[in-house]
Amino acid sequence: MNITLRQLQVFEAVARHLNYTRAAEELFLSQPAVSMQIKQLEEQLGEPLFEQMGKKVFLTEAGKEVYRYSLAIENQLAELQMVLAEMKGMQHGKLSLAVASTANYFVPTLLGIFSKRHKGVMVDIDVTNRENLLKALAANTTDFAIMGKPPEGLELEAHAFMNNPLVMLAASDHPLAGRTHIPLSELIGETFIMRERGSGTRAARERFFSEHGGTAFGKTMEMNSNEAIKQAVQAGLGLGVLSIHTMELELMLKRLVVLNVEGFPIMRHWYIVHRQGKRFTTIALAFKEFVLHEAQSLLRLPTAENAA
Ligand code: PGA
Repeated sequence: MNITLRQLQVFEAVARHLNYTRAAEELFLSQPAVSMQIKQLEEQLGEPLFEQMGKKVFLTEAGKEVYRYSLAIENQLAELQMVLAEMKGMQHGKLSLAVASTANYFVPTLLGIFSKRHKGVMVDIDVTNRENLLKALAANTTDFAIMGKPPEGLELEAHAFMNNPLVMLAASDHPLAGRTHIPLSELIGETFIMRERGSGTRAARERFFSEHGGTAFGKTMEMNSNEAIKQAVQAGLGLGVLSIHTMELELMLKRLVVLNVEGFPIMRHWYIVHRQGKRFTTIALAFKEFVLHEAQSLLRLPTAENAA
């Protein structure tokens, strides 16, 4: 295989835009020059990378794999560039983070404080669910992931830095609102609105319910964002189980209540996670230390009492 970095760079732009013209504009190339680079890359790899249906361009399965690797290679090169820059004494650099959708309720606050201290830092954040975070770590497309505890055996290093209580939320006029010590048996017949497959919150909720009587607990609906679930719960469509981090505003405005249910909150923790043996720049190391030693005290965890 004799592919060039230039071919990968052109491929990455076409794959990102799924459009040859836009990729050509971004790279200041003509469209035929872009098509030629892609054709040569396809010949080298022996696989078509794109397919065209009507006016639309799609990645083939091989194209999707090449895209994943091209992002990892780009990231490795950026890392190399930074290591070399720091060897020359430069202090600023790029920090790339992949953040669980639920952690995005507090990570921007941390980054605001961190970037005031390190003026030169440029941060690149990808907000996604747990399953995609594990893929980003495996593909080495991120320095750190901020997420729930990762599974064992993936050659990852994970450090806990803060509690993540999952609470049961209901509309403020729900008949169970204000009751204390609600037994789980009273929830039979309730509808639950769950996060999508791949979400850490959903996995923890499912574990809890299967340890406490299985699927007997009501009907379920699925939504793929914390915000959508909060809106649905507020509208009276059912109950939800979400991290208390997502609920600061709604608790303050008394739009939602936390139900006092037996076994709740489900206590999870937030972790800063990276690949074992990853070479870090000074700025990335400073970020890790900052999260481990300061995040907990800088962030105020919303509590159900805030609603009172
Ligand atoms: P998520 O949260 O539900 O947004 O994926 C991450 C986690 O709790 O592990």
